[in-house]
Amino acid sequence: MVVSGLRGVGKTVLLNALRGLAVKRAWGTGKVEARPDQSLRMPLAQAVHAAVREVAHRHRDLERVDAVAGVLKSFALRTRVEDRKGIRWQPPIDVPATKGRADSGDLELDMIELFTDVADLARDLGVGIALFIDEMQDISSEELGALCGACHEISQQGAPLIIVGAGLPHLPVALAASKSYAERLFRYVMVDRLPRDMADRALLLPAGTEDVEYEPGALDELYRLTDGYPYFVQAYGKVTWDAAVKSPIRVVDVNEAAPEAEGELAIGFFGARYDRATPAERDYMRAMAELGANNDDGSVTTAQVAEALVRKPQSLSPARDGLIKKGLVYSSERGTVAFTVPHFGKFLRAQHV
Ligand SMILES: Nc1ncnc2c1ncn2[C@@H]1O[C@H](COP(=O)(O)OP(=O)(O)OP(=O)(O)O)[C@@H](O)[C@H]1O
Ligand SMILES: [Mg+2]
Repeated sequence: MVVSGLRGVGKTVLLNALRGLAVKRAWGTGKVEARPDQSLRMPLAQAVHAAVREVAHRHRDLERVDAVAGVLKSFALRTRVEDRKGIRWQPPIDVPATKGRADSGDLELDMIELFTDVADLARDLGVGIALFIDEMQDISSEELGALCGACHEISQQGAPLIIVGAGLPHLPVALAASKSYAERLFRYVMVDRLPRDMADRALLLPAGTEDVEYEPGALDELYRLTDGYPYFVQAYGKVTWDAAVKSPIRVVDVNEAAPEAEGELAIGFFGARYDRATPAERDYMRAMAELGANNDDGSVTTAQVAEALVRKPQSLSPARDGLIKKGLVYSSERGTVAFTVPHFGKFLRAQHV
């Protein structure tokens, strides 16, 4: 399964919830948070190791467990030195690496061998392995292709191993670009903002546990402010809760609290991201914000941005690529860009003096 959506819609929360379900069923689980410029091999080995440990202690045949640990080790040891930077995890030291398995250096072939062996170990126990990959769009196209190839082979074998990925809205496009059959390989789930009834539930249910209600007008105003984006529902819901003195919570409580939520979001959610951009990248985003003022998702063409900044499109590529790498902007259609952060254009326009 592949879950995609804008920043703050709840992808990581969902991934963790799915992992919780797998753990409940006694599956072996592991999680990777992908990073740009980092090979998947070592983080994946670490995640598979976690999954092996979860099932190993229930396995009767310790020799088989050790054999799988040995394959995992040989897989991990093929990591190039430059790709080990910043990773504290070390492959298991209590078993020797298994020579000639998962250590060819070809990531796809090695993943197939590793996944096959780990899935077999889980199958002995009547369970499976679930590997979760967050920020999946940060995996290089080459390695994404290798991952697709391995998933394809594993599903052909019917091995009990699943990959659940999460990432920004262009992740499905990135997967399709890496392998043509990626479209048929995963179940794609788009996570969008909450519809009105669900956003209301997110506020009403926890309040209900304290016997507190909301006036309909207050719920209207909260939905207008949050647009149903989970992170905003959380932020505005919290300050409103703190501001209200009695039940039911009224629209004046929301209005009193709103500037505080806005302020907190301006610093923590928007500001922290804006600060990561270089001056050239900020100019680029400001142009996007102005141009995208009238369309819902704020997507604009790169040609429009170049025209607005009176620059040649090619000269703006570094800024655009930098923003994509920092996860502030995405491009799911050639020649267009959009913000990954909901309401980011609105935030930037409000800042403009
Ligand atoms: N099901 C949920 N229940 C309660 N809160 C939620 C839920 N989903 C999301 N949230 C709220 O939204 C916030 C953002 O969710 P999350 O971190 O999962 O988003 P994300 O899609 O992974 O964002 P990013 O792209 O920035 O990683 C959470 O910290 C939480 O406050
Ligand atoms: Mg996340």
